[in-house]
Amino acid sequence: MKRFFFLYFDKFLTLKYSLKTKLFRSSLGELSSIMYLIHHINAKNLFFFRKKRVLRSKKAIELKERGFTTFSNKSIEKTSLIMLEKIRSIKDQWGIHNDINFDFNPTSKFQNELIQIFESGIDEFIKSVYKSDYSIFYHKIYKSKRDSKEQLPENSQLWHADGYPGTGINLMICHTPISKNNGSMKIINWKKSRELLNKLFFDYKQFLRYKNYLDPINKKNKSEYRKVRCQLLKDYIDQESIKYFQPESEKSGTIFAFSNNCVHAGGYTEVGYERIVSLFNIYPSTKNTTLKEKFDFCMRNDYSFPKINEIFKI
Ligand SMILES: [Fe+2]
Repeated sequence: MKRFFFLYFDKFLTLKYSLKTKLFRSSLGELSSIMYLIHHINAKNLFFFRKKRVLRSKKAIELKERGFTTFSNKSIEKTSLIMLEKIRSIKDQWGIHNDINFDFNPTSKFQNELIQIFESGIDEFIKSVYKSDYSIFYHKIYKSKRDSKEQLPENSQLWHADGYPGTGINLMICHTPISKNNGSMKIINWKKSRELLNKLFFDYKQFLRYKNYLDPINKKNKSEYRKVRCQLLKDYIDQESIKYFQPESEKSGTIFAFSNNCVHAGGYTEVGYERIVSLFNIYPSTKNTTLKEKFDFCMRNDYSFPKINEIFKI
């Protein structure tokens, strides 16, 4: 009887969750998602009244509809390659332990090149997606590598969705050429991702009620719980042979923009290959700022996305 009740209760919760993913493209709480949406509407109105109109481009429509898009051009390719050569020439750029993150402040170090790349099409693309101005919340340069054949995928190499606000754009500048061999990021279109996330929500709820073999969730075992969700996603994708997109390019400078809640996985390379990318988290803004101001803000800021109590200051 109890099991029967929870089966239907979880189905009801999943329906609610599914409505939320449909309306907000995010698994965050309804109230927070409404606030992010109102903030974006404010940003759009201010942009309109400043007479800063930008037409919706083909790539912006593609991002809205599929949840991801890629593009590049000669100017982006050239500056991205200059950045790659500089990154490679810096001593101990990945720290003394040869870690994955660029060890010096990458936003400050490459500000001129990044501004040039944004001026070559990214800035217009983001404004065309949002129909508003925007803020850069986070930027890092990191590399993906695999030391041995035995090394299994971990963290963002596993299928996952980020769970950030639905108004966010994740944007990657792929400094190295990208291919399956160096772990070019795989992504599933938003329509299918939403189906997978709704299914995951129900199955994970049932797992927590009846099959949970882990200790109650705490800071230490949080990643174990995440692994369960990633494994469930992987099982659905493998069982149904779900199609994913994985860009390939022989040139430096592929721009890969995607909704953070599309199911994605990247950076699991073959041994002997490496991928170096810049990753940005971008959100709409009511402020009218220059690219320099956007990067300065990014350097001062510690969060990947706007905090809900500060949303109307951004
Ligand atoms: Fe991610």
